[in-house]
Amino acid sequence: MNNLGILAGSAFFTYLALAIAMGVFPGAALSATKPGPGVVPLSAQEARGRDVYVAEGCSYCHTQQVRPLAQDGVWGRPSTAGDYAHDTPQLLGTERTGPDLSNIGARQPSDVWHLIHLYQPRSLVHASIMPQYPWLFAVKVRADAGDVTVAVPPGYVAPNSTVVATQSALDLVAYLKSLKQKPLPTAAP
Ligand code: HEC
Repeated sequence: MNNLGILAGSAFFTYLALAIAMGVFPGAALSATKPGPGVVPLSAQEARGRDVYVAEGCSYCHTQQVRPLAQDGVWGRPSTAGDYAHDTPQLLGTERTGPDLSNIGARQPSDVWHLIHLYQPRSLVHASIMPQYPWLFAVKVRADAGDVTVAVPPGYVAPNSTVVATQSALDLVAYLKSLKQKPLPTAAP
């Protein structure tokens, strides 16, 4: 073998070894992570809501990872690998413009609150910088039978009109309410 063959061969096998060590092994180890106690897959509706969450870019401002830091204590307990066993790819997020949502289903369990907040965050949180998502709702003169109406406070919707949630809004809220951290088993004394 000439020098070129040795060079190309060693580059190839070094690349292959690194790819296995850095890509394949960690991936295999992570996919074998067991779900934490009580961590279950999403229902069909919650999974559709997760797609809305991704499509609307909620992760641009919201994380789903509580760090083991004192300042994160308000959002829940520190996240563990088992919390994400059914969540692939994970929606960890990096920007913390808004609150962490890992445990929002426990902190804010009200559908009514979530729907009003998505329609117009400022109607509930005075100086909110979260965008409103009006396209997840329909504004009608009168609600039809079976419609889920949203009690938006006066002043945030034209008089004599009714805000109705679309299926996407209802799915998204079902997803948000599913985001509940399960208690971790306490260490044996
Ligand atoms: C531009 C950044 C931004 C985007 C994008 C954004 N949010 Fe927010 N969000 C915020 C901020 C800031 C707050 C805190 C103020 C408030 O409650 O309105 C917040 C608050 C929230 C809360 C209440 C959290 C709590 O602890 O009370 C929920 C739930 C929420 N957002 C869901 C969503 C969802 C779902 C989406 C996507 C449809 C989204 N947000 C998109 C910035 C954002």
